[in-house]
Amino acid sequence: MSSPALKTETALPTFLAACRRQPVAHTPIWIMRQAGRYLPEYRAIRSKVGFTELTRSPELAAEVTLQPIRRFALDASIIFSDIMVPIEGMGVDLEYAPGPVIGTPIRTLKQVEELRPLVPEQDVPFMLEAVKLTRAGLPAHVPLIGFAGSPFTLFSYLVAGKPSKEFSVPRAFAQAEPEISARLLDKLADAMIVYLRAQVNAGAQALMLFESWGGLLGPSDYKRIALPPVKKIIEGLKDLGVPLIYFANQCGGSLEYIATLDVDVVGLDWRTSLGGAREILGPQRAIQGNLDPAHLFSPPAELKKRVDEVFTDIGPGPGHIFNLGHGIWPETDPDTVARLVDYVHERSAKA
Ligand code: CP3
Repeated sequence: MSSPALKTETALPTFLAACRRQPVAHTPIWIMRQAGRYLPEYRAIRSKVGFTELTRSPELAAEVTLQPIRRFALDASIIFSDIMVPIEGMGVDLEYAPGPVIGTPIRTLKQVEELRPLVPEQDVPFMLEAVKLTRAGLPAHVPLIGFAGSPFTLFSYLVAGKPSKEFSVPRAFAQAEPEISARLLDKLADAMIVYLRAQVNAGAQALMLFESWGGLLGPSDYKRIALPPVKKIIEGLKDLGVPLIYFANQCGGSLEYIATLDVDVVGLDWRTSLGGAREILGPQRAIQGNLDPAHLFSPPAELKKRVDEVFTDIGPGPGHIFNLGHGIWPETDPDTVARLVDYVHERSAKA
């Protein structure tokens, strides 16, 4: 197993350097949902505590965040939590089954106005404590990523009331009730600004915004509906000076608008060519992605070929963070993940 190169105390960790498009000794890799059900040690904890309890216990959340870091030579850690945690903090009643299910879906202006503005230190102190504990438990060369859901992704769950493939209810609602929708999206943007700022205060060294369902919108709706609240969030975080990652899941058709966002890194799914995206996004942006999670079920030699294809697609030059194109599947063999991480390091390492 390759181990991360020894760093002097002042050297920027590889992941943060790549976010800044600085040259690196190897391409950094981390994996969306790297703490989760594919790990037997995660399942062992989950057999004793529910998901909500896990997110509300700083010690357990820190423990499961650190599990994949102990096992694999990953270059970044993402805090174990969920995009809906701050939504519960705003007074919304929800449970996980296993995706988020809302007690009373939001459909009226009155419900939007009744959402409490988020005060992270009061409403989600356990999450901030988990960030602190995790940072204290991580090696210096592994930065901690804080995260939030994008307003449109949160809106999708809040209006639909449950997970969905098409999210037809929130998509229709956005067309039928543009003013209520805009108010809800704006309120969510304000909440995510304070939420993400609080995570940095607690020790997060980079921030990621998950636009998981933005790909349901055509380019013009993306620009009109999903983009404005994201712009507001980015504006509200700029002075922090930490790298911002925008995961634009299935948003390949909207890249010309994503190019207008002042983010350091754009995360892409496997349906989008990294090289093609780089041409649209411009040279000042790092790119994260985008191996299909299904490829972790290929035989070892084939997996290497699929990884090679990702490297060929992005081409030479700094500013690539290797990741899957979306979350790792629970059925994945952890040994395959170990091989992936080591191969990405070996293949990209400079002589
Ligand atoms: O390791 C990590 O990536 C950190 C943990 C993390 C979770 N959720 C844990 C989780 C992160 C970053 C998220 C973000 C999240 N949550 C997103 C954006 C990322 C994406 O996948 O697009 C979304 C859309 C959600 C909403 C959500 N929460 C869903 C759809 C589900 C069900 C997921 C599933 O795979 O069944 C959840 C619950 C959830 N969040 C689980 C985990 C590990 C499963 C919980 C369990 O039963 O143990």
